[in-house]
Amino acid sequence: MNNLSNIALGTWLFGGLRWGHVDPDTSYRTMCEAIERGIKYFDTSDAYGKGYSEELIGRLPKSLKQKIKVMTKSGVVWDADGTRHVNINKDYVLGALTNSLNRLDIDQIEVYYLHEDDESKTVDEISNTLEKVLETGNVRYLGLSNFSEKRVAEISSRVPIYSVQNECNPLEIRETVNTIKAIKRKGMQFHGYGLLSKGLLSGKLFGKEEFQTGDNRAENKEFLGDRFVQNIVKVDKLKESVRHTGIPLAPLVIYWAIKYCEVDLAIIGCRNVSQLNEVLDYVNNIHNLDVFEILTDSFYNW
Ligand SMILES: NC(=O)c1ccc[n+]([C@@H]2O[C@H](COP(=O)([O-])OP(=O)(O)OC[C@H]3O[C@@H](n4cnc5c(N)ncnc54)[C@H](OP(=O)(O)O)[C@@H]3O)[C@@H](O)[C@H]2O)c1
Repeated sequence: MNNLSNIALGTWLFGGLRWGHVDPDTSYRTMCEAIERGIKYFDTSDAYGKGYSEELIGRLPKSLKQKIKVMTKSGVVWDADGTRHVNINKDYVLGALTNSLNRLDIDQIEVYYLHEDDESKTVDEISNTLEKVLETGNVRYLGLSNFSEKRVAEISSRVPIYSVQNECNPLEIRETVNTIKAIKRKGMQFHGYGLLSKGLLSGKLFGKEEFQTGDNRAENKEFLGDRFVQNIVKVDKLKESVRHTGIPLAPLVIYWAIKYCEVDLAIIGCRNVSQLNEVLDYVNNIHNLDVFEILTDSFYNW
C-alpha cells in the first residue's frame, strides 16, 4: 500500500520565522527531495515567513512544480512589531490569493484555506468570500483551518468545503479523534498537522535542549522545565515498547495517524533531507499493526 499519497510536506519551518535558524538552501533541497521521492502535496501559507515559504516553492523548477499540488492559506497576518492578527475580509483574502499565486508562480492552487476563523464575521460573509475565491478560477478546492466544528458545519452547508486542516497532536488525540470522525462523516477530508507534537515525538530529544529565541518551542510549556523532562521520559518508554519493530518513532506515529486516526493527509514538518527520508524510508514499509494498540494506549494516557 502506498502511504505517500496520504503525506504532504509542511513548509512552515522553511519560511524561517518561529523555528529558530533555518537554512534556505537546506529547505530548498528538502523540497526537491520530497518531490523526487513522490510527495504530491505541499502545504504552505502566506503567513509562513510572511510569504517566504511560498516564494521558495515558487523558485522550484517548473519540471518539479508540475509534479505537486500546492495548498496555501490566508488570514493570519504578521505585523511589523511581531504581533499577529486575523484578517478574513473579502477584499483582503482576494488580494492575498493573487499575491500567493504570484509568489508560488503557479496558475492554480489545489486547496485554498482560510487559516483561522474570525468569529465576528457572519457565516454569510465568510461564505460570500469563499464563493468569490472559487469564482477566480485559480483555486480547485476550498478549505477551513482551525475553525470550530460548529462553524465548519455552518459554512460547509453554504459553500463546498473540501477539507479541514486542524491540529492532530497525538498527545491530545482524545479531543481530536471525534472531530476527525465528524468532519469525515460530512464528506470532507481531514488534513492534520502537529503529528510529531513539534518534534517531541521524533524520539530525538533529550529533555535538556534549550530552543533558540525565535523558535516557537522556546515558549511552549511542553518543552520547558520539568514538563519537558516528563514528556521525554514518556517518549523514551514508548520508544522502548516499540523497539521490536525496528522502526523509528517518527514514521510509526505518522503511519498510526494515517491508519488509526484516518487522517487523509498527514502534513509533516521536516527541517532537512535526513528527517524527511527517515519518515519516507519507513512509512511505506510498515506492516506490523500490532504496535497500534501500544501507541493508542500511550497517547490516550499521556
Ligand atoms: N494550519 C495551521 O494552522 C498549521 C499550524 C501548524 C503547522 N501547520 C502545517 O503543518 C506542518 C508541520 O508542522 P508542525 O508544527 O505540525 O510540525 P510537526 O510535524 O509536529 O514537527 C515538526 C518538527 O519535528 C521534528 N522532526 C520531524 N521529523 C523528524 C525526524 N525524522 N527526526 C527528528 N526530528 C524530526 C523537526 O524538529 P527540529 O526543528 O527540532 O529539527 C521538525 O521541525 C507545517 O510545516 C505547516 O505546513 C499548519
